[in-house]
Amino acid sequence: MRKKANPVRITGAYEKKVAQLSTLMALSTILNSTLEQKEVRKRAIEAATRLTESEVGSLLLVDEETNELFFEVALGEKGEKVKEIRLKMGEGIAGWVAKTGESVIIDDVQNDPRFFKGADKKSSFVTRNMMCVPVKSEGKVIGVLQSINKLKGGRFTNDDLEGFISLADQVAIAIEKSRLYQELRDTFFCAAEALADAIEKRDPYTGGHTKRVLQYSVAIGKYLDLKESELERLRLAAVLHDIGKIGIEDSILRKRDKLNPDEYEKVKQHPVWGAEIMGHIKQLKDVIPGMRYHHERMDGNGYPDHLRDNQIPIIAKIISVADTFDAITTERPYQESLSIDVAFKELRGSAGTQFDSRVVEAFLKAYEAGDINADNVKVGLL
Ligand SMILES: [Fe+2]
Repeated sequence: MRKKANPVRITGAYEKKVAQLSTLMALSTILNSTLEQKEVRKRAIEAATRLTESEVGSLLLVDEETNELFFEVALGEKGEKVKEIRLKMGEGIAGWVAKTGESVIIDDVQNDPRFFKGADKKSSFVTRNMMCVPVKSEGKVIGVLQSINKLKGGRFTNDDLEGFISLADQVAIAIEKSRLYQELRDTFFCAAEALADAIEKRDPYTGGHTKRVLQYSVAIGKYLDLKESELERLRLAAVLHDIGKIGIEDSILRKRDKLNPDEYEKVKQHPVWGAEIMGHIKQLKDVIPGMRYHHERMDGNGYPDHLRDNQIPIIAKIISVADTFDAITTERPYQESLSIDVAFKELRGSAGTQFDSRVVEAFLKAYEAGDINADNVKVGLL
């Protein structure tokens, strides 16, 4: 005879645990579906308040240089003021948690000797009760997650704390992942800058050109309301735009006199070579058009592919204006630097034929607003 299986008793507590776990899983997915550091932190706070059913959540991160804690994200209007606060290690409840690495539930925060009243004062918020857990990565405390004031006047339970600790583990993974991603991006960008610098070192007359073109391009991009991802591509394309000059021999690149037609033809190959060299890196697929087409013109008389109007990507159009402004206003082997007024005149006069008028307009706006730092540029009237 088969033994009768014991029926599983579904209790309220059991159902609550299942609900908590499924919320935790959903929140972890949301948390880990972005690599943007700021977004990760914002989502961590939202997850904290949702999971633990509290009024407010906050995330404090450890500043390794000063060994202080700072409120990285504090949501809401009141939270803005809290952002200015920095806690020493061991100071306040969050500081205590960061120092000891222990989690804590405090039912009566106001009467806890560890409580730092500064945050409430700044935000005119009243902290009643609190759950505070360390955010640890590889055993090291990198921050503290707080859940403040259980909704409907309730208290935080040990079950809440258990779920909160699991969430903190997910937050740690998401923070570290986004940090690594940012580091990777920074390293890649620095490598691109180093490469551009190496090319510039061959040509003493263009010192600092890449940095200036980068700065002008980003300023223009902002006035054209480019999205963050487009700005990122623009930054890389601006740094790498003349990388193909590595293929131009010294006798041409460093020539003081005007180039003859043959030499000029060789120089005109640099956008093609640059695109070819960088074509080996598949992650640069969307950056390469900005490099290859930075000498194209709206009227189709540019090089290397004689593109026109909308065939030219916006990033290339921006670099073209930034590049020209710098070429006019800095000294070159065969040309003395001219004034900013001359550069403006040239840009305005060639809007629509050489340059996209919208880009020229954005450049002028950026300049007027002081976003184009032309410190190294000769200022004066012709
Ligand atoms: Fe160029």
